[in-house]
Parts: sequence; C-alpha cells; structure tokens
Amino acid sequence: MKAIAQANSNIALIKYWGKRESSLNLPAVGSISVTLAGMKTVSQVHFQEDLREDLLILNGKEALPPETTRVSKFLDIVRETTGLSMYAAVKSHNNFPTGAGLASSASAFASLALASSQAAGLKLSSPQLSILARRGSGSAARSLFGGFVEMRAGKNEDGSDSYAFQVQDEKYWDIHLLIAITSEQKKDIGSTTGMNHTARTSPYYRQWVNTSHTDLKEMRRAITDKNFSKLGELAEFSCLKMHAVAMSSYPGLVYWNSATIECMQTIRDLRRQGSEAYFTIDAGPQVKAICLSAKIETVKSALENTRGVLRVISSGLGGNAALLERIDWNTL
Ligand code: PMV
Repeated sequence: MKAIAQANSNIALIKYWGKRESSLNLPAVGSISVTLAGMKTVSQVHFQEDLREDLLILNGKEALPPETTRVSKFLDIVRETTGLSMYAAVKSHNNFPTGAGLASSASAFASLALASSQAAGLKLSSPQLSILARRGSGSAARSLFGGFVEMRAGKNEDGSDSYAFQVQDEKYWDIHLLIAITSEQKKDIGSTTGMNHTARTSPYYRQWVNTSHTDLKEMRRAITDKNFSKLGELAEFSCLKMHAVAMSSYPGLVYWNSATIECMQTIRDLRRQGSEAYFTIDAGPQVKAICLSAKIETVKSALENTRGVLRVISSGLGGNAALLERIDWNTL
C-alpha cells in the first residue's frame, strides 16, 4: 500500500481567486495556468497497519500542525472513498528552495493525490484525480497536467464538473518563466484566507467573478493562435485585476513589497525597449516574468539588476504528474 508520485508546480495566467463553496473547495472562477519544469514535488504515501496517526516528513524534517493537519484531512478523503482505515507515513520533497515564498501547495497536493490514490488502490480517471487534488488546493487540480492547463469552475453542487484538463502540452510553445524572488519570508495571509476575505468585503468582487468568463475565452484564443502579445497582456490584466480586488477588500490586502513594483517596472521598460516580457504575481511578493525563449537572458539579467531582487529562478514548461517506481531521496 505504497506509491510515489511527482508533480510540477504551476503559475496561473488567468487567476483563480474566490470560492463558490468552501467545504469542497469549489472555485468561483475558472483559471488557466502553465506548468513549470523547474519546480516539482515528489511524494511517497505508505498506508500502514501499525501507525496510530498520519506522519509527515517534509523536506527531510518531521512536520507539525498546520501542515500535518492539512495532509491528514486530505488523506481522510481517500480513506472515506475507499473504506480504508489505516494511517499513512508521507514523505514529501520539493526540489525548489522552500521558505522562498513560492507556492508549493499546487505541486504538493497534485503529487499527494496521485500517490495516495494509487497507494489506496483507487483507480481514478484524470478528472476524478483532478477533483481529488482540488480538495487539497485549487491550484493543485491544475498541476496534474503539463503545458497549458484550464481549470473549470463548474456549476454542480457536488463539484463533479469542477476539475482541470490539459489545453496544450509542454512542447506546444517555447514559453519561459523567470521568477524574481523579492522576499524569503513566509507570507502572512494565505490564499484561502485572502480570497474568502476578498469575497466577503470587496465591493468589486462580483465584477471580478462576472468578468472572468471573458478573460478565459480570450486566453484560450491567444493560446490557440500562439499570440504571445495577447497572452502576456491578458496575464498582466488578470494579475492586476486580482490584486486590485484583493486591495479593495476591507481591510485591504497588499501582497507586494517595493521590489515587486520595481520588477513590474523593469518588465514594462523591457517591453518599451523591444524585449517582449509580461508579469504575473500570485498571493505574494515574487514576480514571474513571462517571455519567449529568445529573450530569457535579457529578461533574467534585467530582473537580477532590479533593486530588491534576491535571485531569479528560470523555468520552461513542464509535463504531467507521474507515478515513480522508486526514488533516491538523496538526489532530489
Ligand atoms: O489553490 P490555492 O489555494 O493555492 O490558490 C491559488 C491562488 C493564486 O495562486 C493566487 C492564483 C492561482 O490561480 O494559482
């Protein structure tokens, strides 16, 4: 009753922000993301008779609540579905620097969904697996697939139509991401707290939800047409709209620091000078620049020379989550 799986992280071009239902973690809006090659989580799940509780080793260290509670609640879903009563020993490792303020919940819960369902003997279709990952984190539903991925908000109360699917694979287009790290601190307001607060208090939240369909439609078209300028403009638009709605909540949420804004300016300056790059930012201060591979070096060095940037991580597009036969934890 043991399985190992790996999944890549992802970055949303059209953002998910807000839930239509909390207990099943149903998003209020659809989203479109790109999966990253350079940032993955490997998870091993081993259901064992002799355990008195679930155990979690995260990046080589024994984890504590709230991480352990979140993983246990997730495993409860697998146990309820299968009738299994055993606890599990879970080992999870990120190959990207932790504590860097980079979202790891997407790759973590995608790899956990795949490993835990396999270990429990559950045979799930791709949508069912995505639905399971969604219970751990909304963005995890997308991390099961490589390349360009769309997540449907869905309408059904039971969440059966709220899952992600691949739009194009990672070989479709040579899109590249450069992630400017502007702070190593853990963010104070997590995405669930932030989006629920926004939904409750922002006067613009309804508009955010109502206009999401147009953004999704236009992004689908930009991907089909391989229209990079349109893709970039829409990604910046969705990012700024998400942050604007979060800022307009009461009290307002500001995820940026001064270097975040410096990076946004660097990227717009690059564009004015003829190097096409666009930014997107999640619920934190790191800035992700999107460019085509011909511009990687130009964009990377411009970000590295921006005030307040600590370092820049470079990543192309990554593939599907996968089961692994074995893993050498020392090589991760
Ligand atoms: O699924 P969560 O709880 O990690 O929320 C993701 C929220 C954003 O990263 C800001 C946007 C997104 O679509 O990934």
